[in-house]
Order: sequence, then structure tokens, then C-alpha cells
Amino acid sequence: MQRPINEEIASRRTFAIISHPDAGKTTMTEKLLYFGGAIRDAGTVKGKKTGKYATSDWMEIEKQRGISVTSSVLQFDYDGKRVNILDTPGHEDFSEDTYRTLMAVDAAVMMVDSAKGIEPQTIKLFKVCRMRGIPIFTFMNKMDRQGKEPLELMEELEEVLEIQSYAMNYPIGMGKEFIGVYDRFNNRIEQARVEGDSHFLPLNDEGELAVEHPMTETSYYKQALEDVMLLNEAGNEFDVERVAKGELTPVFFGSALTNFGVQTFLETFLQFAPPPQPRQTKDEQQIDPQSSEFSGFIFKIQANMNPAHRDRIAFVRIVSGAFERGMSVTVPRISKSFKLSQTTQFLADDRETVNEAVAGDIIGLYDTGNYQIGDTVVGGKFNFQFEALPQFTPELFVRVTAKNVMKSKHFHKGILQLVQEGAIQYYKTLHTEEVILGAVGQLQFEVFEHRMKNEYNVEVIMEHIGSKVARWIENESDVKESMTGQRSMLVKDRYDNLVFLFENEFALRWFGDKYPDIKLYNLL
Ligand code: G4P
Repeated sequence: MQRPINEEIASRRTFAIISHPDAGKTTMTEKLLYFGGAIRDAGTVKGKKTGKYATSDWMEIEKQRGISVTSSVLQFDYDGKRVNILDTPGHEDFSEDTYRTLMAVDAAVMMVDSAKGIEPQTIKLFKVCRMRGIPIFTFMNKMDRQGKEPLELMEELEEVLEIQSYAMNYPIGMGKEFIGVYDRFNNRIEQARVEGDSHFLPLNDEGELAVEHPMTETSYYKQALEDVMLLNEAGNEFDVERVAKGELTPVFFGSALTNFGVQTFLETFLQFAPPPQPRQTKDEQQIDPQSSEFSGFIFKIQANMNPAHRDRIAFVRIVSGAFERGMSVTVPRISKSFKLSQTTQFLADDRETVNEAVAGDIIGLYDTGNYQIGDTVVGGKFNFQFEALPQFTPELFVRVTAKNVMKSKHFHKGILQLVQEGAIQYYKTLHTEEVILGAVGQLQFEVFEHRMKNEYNVEVIMEHIGSKVARWIENESDVKESMTGQRSMLVKDRYDNLVFLFENEFALRWFGDKYPDIKLYNLL
């Protein structure tokens, strides 16, 4: 490393882009990598429609695992900062994976399609970021198309997501008449479709164009000035501390596809996005990123390129200190130590062996089945576990068995590993110990079935028991099996906690009325 470790750590900016499918996350990622010099041409990161695959496409992607693995973490340097972008699956059926990835970032960029406004998947992902109190930067995309009025978009953002906003810039015109943006933050106008130095025009003390320009005659310019004045008087103030707490989102208008406003966005984002943040342990100790000891946690496990070997890559977010290849670490959950000699780092189009990495970075550890999602990894004298990653309440359930009973050993091994990866959730019935799987999205089951067949050579029978309302129990000892009936069943989760699966909300309410002393709760 070229700089002292504390400077290296302070230079890290680790974030994810969240959006509803089609809002422009892939396009934005490509443009950012392009500015970061990580790729030569925007458009080479991955197949265009990875965010929108049908099951069959997913299988295809799975066959060429390389794609999904290498694009999981993208890294580049810009302006003395080392930027780590954590990629998240576009399909909502894999949202559990996305939620966990959001546990490993220090900031989020929210892409909004300005014609569509705030969409359902954006709301869900936003809530996860909100829960963590991380800063959220908003990019109102596709200004080159006719969309909703900018003020209307900001209002929608504030009302639907209950977050305050500050427009860093403001569009002048839209669609075919998109002239550029009024950059409130840098006091200039950034022109669309103009290359070179004249791209930026200065503003005077009154906040109007300081140079003569035909644009001043247009109604779009006048409208933008009027709206900006309104925001100056009645809008929120820019407040760095509130941005850092995730209470105020800076809003940028632009167009990822035509590459308008992306560079200004990147530069401003890097100025305000936080360096690696401390994390809390189970016993409420704060672990400082600048600590001299190494620590991290596993937020994602991905089956590796070669299904025949069933090796996997565990993604570690480094929380503190520095990693060096060959160092020994301990996983406190199993009190086992490992020498980390096979590790990998992720670049846009290649994987390379990583020798050194610091807090804020993501490294991939080769795993032969030792790690599981949420594991803490520590070096030196450290001995603690980070707070558990949140578990998510699944809504869909299947009862699953092996087609061929002779394969039962492989069946259980496959399930165990896929559950450890976080690909699917595991439950079992109380006495018969039948396996029930829970998922957030239907595709998770299909991928499960496919992988069981391809990687563990087991064909499974899945009996859909439909969507259920799952509830955990605070006072388990008060629960009796006789409380279940036609519209509810009692199962155990993978940690042996009792869980009620209700047929629907109605059954849940009926239960609540009948057994008011049983305290139920749901996970995220
Ligand atoms: P996602 O990862 O969030 O799912 O979105 P992605 O970047 O794949 O973009 C979804 C579609 O929106 C793509 O079009 C993309 O070209 C388009 N798009 C992204 N940013 C902008 C923008 O600033 N302006 C306009 N007009 N379009 C934008 P597509 O029709 O799915 O693919 P293509 O055939 O047009 O490439």
C-alpha cells in the first residue's frame, strides 16, 4: 500500500446503489466505473438485462458463475479515494441478498426513474437503509425524457419516504428540451449536450447567469430560476450532519444514459459520503475502523465457479484494521482459526488475488463449508461477535423432500449449505421434522431446486404450502401446541426458535384475540 494504513482506511468509500428495476442502476454503475477508469467503455460491465432476468436467464448466469461473482463488488480510485460499489441483485425475489448487502455499506445511492417516481422496490430498500441510519444520496434519473415535474418528484420523495431533501441541482427543461441543470451547490449552470469548458456557466451573486446566453430567454430557464428561488426560501437547508445521519437526502437531477450530471454527482457524493464507520458487537462495544486489529463480518456467501467442487466465496466486509494475505483469523462462532491464503478482490472485469486490504474494503475468502452468513472474523487478540445480521420474514413456504429417499444424506447436506449461504430459509415441523423452506420471492425456490439437482445431485419434491404470515414468539414457554388449528401451524426455525405460520392476516388477528398473552413479533 502506498499510504500509511490510517490514511488508506480514511480514503475508503463503500456504498450500494438501490433502485426499482429499470431505474438505471446498471447504467449508472457503468458510468461511475468509466469515470473511475476501471473500464474503458461504459457498457462492458455486464449483460444489459441482468437486472431483469427470467428464471431461465438466471440459470444461464449461474452456469457462467464468473459474471455474478466478479460483478458483486466493483472497485476504483477517484480523487485520492478508493471507491467500493457493492452490487445488488436487481430482481426483487433476491431482495434478501440485497438487504444483507446493505448491512455492509456506509452509504447508499438511490436511483429514481423521474417518469415513474418512487416505486415499491425503492421503498423497501430505502427502509433498510433508513433502519441503519446511513446517508442516502438521490439521483433523479432519465431527465432526457419527459418525466414528472421536479418539484412534484421532490414532494413525492419526502412524502412517500418520509425523508427531507435538498436539491443540489435543479433541471432546466426536460426531455427534448433538457438544457441542463442549475447547480445550486457549485453555483453554476451545467449545460447538457455541450462538450468542453463551456459546459459550465457561472452564476452571479443574485443566482442568475453571469454571462450572456440565449438560454436566459427560454421559459425553461425562467421556470427553473423561479423554482430554485422557491426552494431557497421555503425548502430545507443543506446540512452536512443531517446528511450523515440519513435525515436529509441530497438530490441530483441528471441522466445516466446520456452521461449528464454523473461526474458532478460522483465528485459531490465522494465529498460527503462517509469513510468506514464503526460497527457494534453483540455486547455493545463499538469497533473503530482505525483499530490496529483486523475484524470483519460475512454478509454474503456465493457458490463458486466450479459446482463440482462446491467451493464457495464468503464476502467479508472489513470493519477494522488491515488484512494481509496469509494472516490467521478466528471465527468466534465456531472457535476455529484459519490461515487466509486464498483470498480474492473484485474488479470490474477480473478477479485478482488480494494481498492487502483495509477497513471499508470487501474481500472474498475461499470457503469449503466453514463459514455462514453473519459470521464474524477476527484477527490478533480480538474476540467478539458483531451484532447479528437481520433476518427477514419470508412470505412463501414449501414443504420439501428428496425424490429418492436413498439420497437423504446429500439432500440434508445440500439444504444445510444453501441455508448457510442465505439462499433460502430453513424451518422444520415439530415432531416429524419435515423440512419447510421459506423465501421472500418465488425465484428463490426455483434456484434452490436447480442447484440441489446440479450441485448436490438430488431431485427434490416441493409441495407448495402457499404464502403464510410468519410470527416469532417472545414468550415461547407459554405456547402450547393446542393453540394451532386449521389456519395456523407451529414450526421451528434453524435456530430452534418457535414460529407460527398463519394462513393470512385474518388468522393472525383471530389468534391475537383468542390468545392475547402470547406476544408475537415479525422480523424485518
Ligand atoms: P436497472 O439496472 O436499474 O434495472 O436499469 P438499467 O440501467 O438496466 O436501465 C434500464 C433502462 O433504462 C435501459 O433501457 C437503460 O438504457 C435506460 N436508461 C438508464 N438511464 C437512462 C437515462 O438517463 N435516460 C434514458 N432515456 N434511459 C435510461 P432498456 O430499454 O432496458 O435497454 P436499452 O435497450 O435501451 O439499452
